[in-house]
Amino acid sequence: MWACGGPCRHVALRTAADSMCPVALNLRHLLHLSIPGNPDMSARQVHVINHPLVQHKLTLMRRKDTSTKSFRELVHEISAMLAYEITRDMPMQEIEIETPLEPMKSRVIDGKKVVLASILRAGNGFLDGMLNVIPGARVGHIGLYRDPDTLQAVEYYFKMPSDMHERDVIVLDPMLATGNSAVAAVDRLKLTNPRSIRFACLVTCPQGLKTFHDHHPDVPVYTPAVDRGLNSHGYIVPGLGDAGDRIFGTK
Ligand code: URA
Repeated sequence: MWACGGPCRHVALRTAADSMCPVALNLRHLLHLSIPGNPDMSARQVHVINHPLVQHKLTLMRRKDTSTKSFRELVHEISAMLAYEITRDMPMQEIEIETPLEPMKSRVIDGKKVVLASILRAGNGFLDGMLNVIPGARVGHIGLYRDPDTLQAVEYYFKMPSDMHERDVIVLDPMLATGNSAVAAVDRLKLTNPRSIRFACLVTCPQGLKTFHDHHPDVPVYTPAVDRGLNSHGYIVPGLGDAGDRIFGTK
């Protein structure tokens, strides 16, 4: 849960009380979010999803004795809730429909179908739950590996739907850790010129957010948790371990 143990949402930073939170102060420093009204504030958005159900499920997922079966079920449940929050401000349009009684104008999500862009392989864990909530969504995949010599992310697979300029994309990766693969994925995605990009994860940390937003200040991150930091292997601490291994039972 929150390092501060209190109600602070770390990056909302809207109240004086929140500003006392050490994690928020650290994030302010790292993300330059200090002054309300600062243009950076809106440019470098981090949406911390603090809903009790989401937080409860994340706590269960973090526990080391949670089985693969339970972990997978929890990813499924929590990703549906994340989809609900992430799509909260999506643009809408009014269309004419007819109820059994009379014609009316009613609202639907504007534009072509949303794209769920999964960063392989752990991002795939989000797909089923999100597709439950956004059943018409298209699914794209981004495969990256880290070159052992240069430590740079190298693309080995990239497939998105057509007409990306008319689509809103939600990039999926449970762990926004160093931020390097997230940056590379969004770099590549931007070449397809989508209408908008949002980034969804389960856990992140200040370093990952800083790296990501240094490169992509225009892409909001949606996360239930901003953890303390990274260990020497690039894992988020306290984190939840290797998300791919825990989803797919490969360890
Ligand atoms: N990838 C993971 O699966 N977990 C981490 O903590 C960092 C990267």
